[in-house]
Parts: sequence; structure tokens; C-alpha cells
Amino acid sequence: MISSERIPNNVNLSDNKRLQRALEHWQPKYIQWWKDMGPSGFQDYHQVYVRTATSVDPEGWAHFEYVKLPEYRWGIFLAEPTADRRVGFGDLMGQPVWQEVPGEFRNPLRRLIVTQGDTEPASVEQQRQLGSRCPSLYDLRNLFQVNVEEGRHLWAMVYLLHSYFGRDGRDEAEELLERRSGNSDKPRILQAFNEPITNWLDFFMFTMFTDRDGKSQLLSLSESSLDPLSRTTRFMLTEEAHHMFVGETGVARIIERACQLMKESGYSEDVRKLGGIDLPTIQKHINQWFTLSLDLHGSEVSTNAASYFANGLKGRAKEETFEDHLVLDQIYRMTLMEEGKLDTREVPMRNAMNEVLRDWYVGDCAKGVERWNKLLEHYGVKDFQFRLPDRKFNRGIGMFAGFHFDPDGRPLSDEEWTRRKDEWLPSDKDEEYLQSIMATPVFEPGKFANYIAPPRRGINHLPIDFEYVRTEQ
Ligand SMILES: [Fe+2]
Ligand SMILES: [Fe+2]
Repeated sequence: MISSERIPNNVNLSDNKRLQRALEHWQPKYIQWWKDMGPSGFQDYHQVYVRTATSVDPEGWAHFEYVKLPEYRWGIFLAEPTADRRVGFGDLMGQPVWQEVPGEFRNPLRRLIVTQGDTEPASVEQQRQLGSRCPSLYDLRNLFQVNVEEGRHLWAMVYLLHSYFGRDGRDEAEELLERRSGNSDKPRILQAFNEPITNWLDFFMFTMFTDRDGKSQLLSLSESSLDPLSRTTRFMLTEEAHHMFVGETGVARIIERACQLMKESGYSEDVRKLGGIDLPTIQKHINQWFTLSLDLHGSEVSTNAASYFANGLKGRAKEETFEDHLVLDQIYRMTLMEEGKLDTREVPMRNAMNEVLRDWYVGDCAKGVERWNKLLEHYGVKDFQFRLPDRKFNRGIGMFAGFHFDPDGRPLSDEEWTRRKDEWLPSDKDEEYLQSIMATPVFEPGKFANYIAPPRRGINHLPIDFEYVRTEQ
């Protein structure tokens, strides 16, 4: 029997028999999926000091406890409703928002929810081998915190599917547990979620850049006229912020350690000889994960994006900061690829909504990179700066896919690209090196692998050498 104790929620689960039954049916399959595809080697004998959301108010966030991962209490939370909320953009602007799914938008809404939902278990699958290579117990705990919250995000989407999409929704909820990251027969829907994440630099880059795509998407879905979708995603955003904190500070600590090693050696030694991760390797990983995440925002010109906006399904990030919410006669001036050549053209703004969201995303990423550069400055590194590559570089989706550009956006021939791509993207040798320094996990409280600096502070005001993950007593 499902109780609100077992599934913390603010959707009156105990009064909703239909939903309860649907979830009772789904939950055991979810737990089986978690045991099969969740963190490998940390299911049965480890207790993790995690945060569990028990309500949506600030106190509901302060609940920390040791749990065995499969016993985590995955809950269902919606942000509090806004009184008399109205459609905030598009052709239906000003009408009351929807508490049920309008028949004519059923398919696109289901597709949006399933696509978002699919990324959540996918990332858990991608990251499942990282525990046995962890740089510290602090980082191990953060990895698991991110993983259980991605699991909760899956619950959030499954809640919507079960509550508002009937039989189709139930089928989709099952399929979310059947697809597998990287599986050739049943892959996850989006390509960036089929790449395995085998080292911690990739993990931190993923949580910096790909979780930030999650933030873009959630911000735009939180504008949705489907009120339960808006409220669900608004609450998810509060968790997403922590994922990006893990990513940004994780990379920052690797940069900091590289700087310390450089400084100690009088800037003369190769950082790799000292067991650190050199700045050019970090830049290559920025290039890779930033561009994979740009792809997640979809094609530059998109009629789907235009109709999502027109119909009020998906808005712009922070819609209220724009003046014009109808966007009927605005244009977007865009660099386009036409007949193999770069050109500039004016596109109706509604058709450019993916690009508008991508602009927001690039700006948000740039602030993080700026903070990393401040760190270089602080350590007196003068001849190196991190940067985001041009958005045409290394693209697999959109009009630049299939063409080659360098990180400055200059076109390259196939031959030049093949010859030089290892200068810009992680090579097999880089991966081999990263694997070599991460081969031995660090499980001693307060100790950190040589390639990463300790964090500024611990979790929940606890010391850095707290035992954040312990074997069962
Ligand atoms: Fe998520
Ligand atoms: Fe996330």
C-alpha cells in the first residue's frame, strides 16, 4: 500500500485512488529499474547522506538522512498554484490556464513530457559506473544526490502521464523504464543521453552543461499553459540548481588543483606529470559537452517550436522579461547555412524560438565560464582563458550538422577537421589519461584525489571530512 509517508507528496495522493493504483503498479517496476540501472555497486550495503524533499516550502528541503539508495523516498511535488493564472504568451494569451489537457494539444504535450521524462532515467544510466572511481566521499554523495533527484524527476513526469493522459500515459510511463541509454535497440530519445559518462571530468561537465539544458527546457515548460506541467517543472528547477552547482564547482575544483600544481612547480612542469588535469584537456571537455547540449535545443528554424509557442505549450525562458508576448511580427536575424554557404537571413521570430532559448542558454553558460576564468586570474595564470566555442562548432543537430567548423566558427574541409579535431575535442589518449588517474577511488573521509581540490564547505553545514557515504553498520 502506498502511503504519503512512503511517497512524500503534495498532490493529495491518499485521496486519489485512481492515481494511487496506477502508481502502485508502476512503482515496483521503477525500483527494479533503479536496482538494475542505478549506481552500480552502491545499492545494497551503502548508506548515503541525502536530502529528501518532504514538502515544497523551504523547511521541506532541510530533511537530510542516511538512506540505502533503493529505499530513497521519491516524492511527487508541484510548486504552489498561482491564483487566477492566465496564459502568458501566444495566440491564447490572457485566457485561464488549463487544469486538464485540451484534446487538440494532447499529442504535442505528451511528446514534450515524454521527451523531458526520458532524459531523467537516461542520465542515471549514463552515470552508473562513476561511483567506483570517485575522487572523495563528498563527491560520491553529490553524485548520488543528483541521481536520486533525476529519479524523482522521472516520477514527476510519470505523475503527469498517469494523471492526465489515460491509457497512453500509462504506456508511456512503462516505456520510460524500458529504453536504455546507449542501447542500440531501445536507445534513449536524445543523443546526448546515449553517451556513457565514464570519468568525473565528464560528469562535472555534464552537470554543468547538460543539466543546464535541463534548466532551459524546464524554464520554458514552466511557462506552459498546462498548469500542472508548469507547477511540476517549477519545483524541478529548484533541484536542477543543485545539479549545476555540483557541475560548476566540480570543474572549478579541478581547475583550482591544476593551478596549484602549476604554481608549485613554478609553472614549468606539465600538469599531467604531477597527476593533475591540464587546462587544455579541460577546455576540450567544455567544447564537447557545450556543443552536445546546444544540440539538445533543436533545429534553428522550427515550425514545431513556432506552434508550441503559438498554442501556449512552451514559452521562452523567463517569458515575463519580454515585452511582446504575441511575437507576431518580430524577426530574428540568423546566420544560416544555405547550399553549403554561410549567410544571414531574417526569420519570423516564432520559428526561431529554439534559437531564442539557445541564446538564453549560451548566456547562462558564459557566466559560469567567466567564474572559472576568475579562478585562473586568482592563481596568476596569464596565458590561458577558458571559452565557449562558436555555436557552429561540432554540431550534430540543426543546419550546421554535417559541416565542419573550428571553435572560432571558421569553416573547415573534411580533411582539416579529421586532422585537427583532437586539438579541440577529447581524444582516446585524453580519455586513457583520465581513466588512469581515476582508477583508484578515494573512500577515506576528508581525503581527495590528487586532481581535485576540496570544496569550500561540506553538505548541510557538516565538515568536509564527514562520512557522507558509509557502509552499512
Ligand atoms: Fe532532471
Ligand atoms: Fe538535473
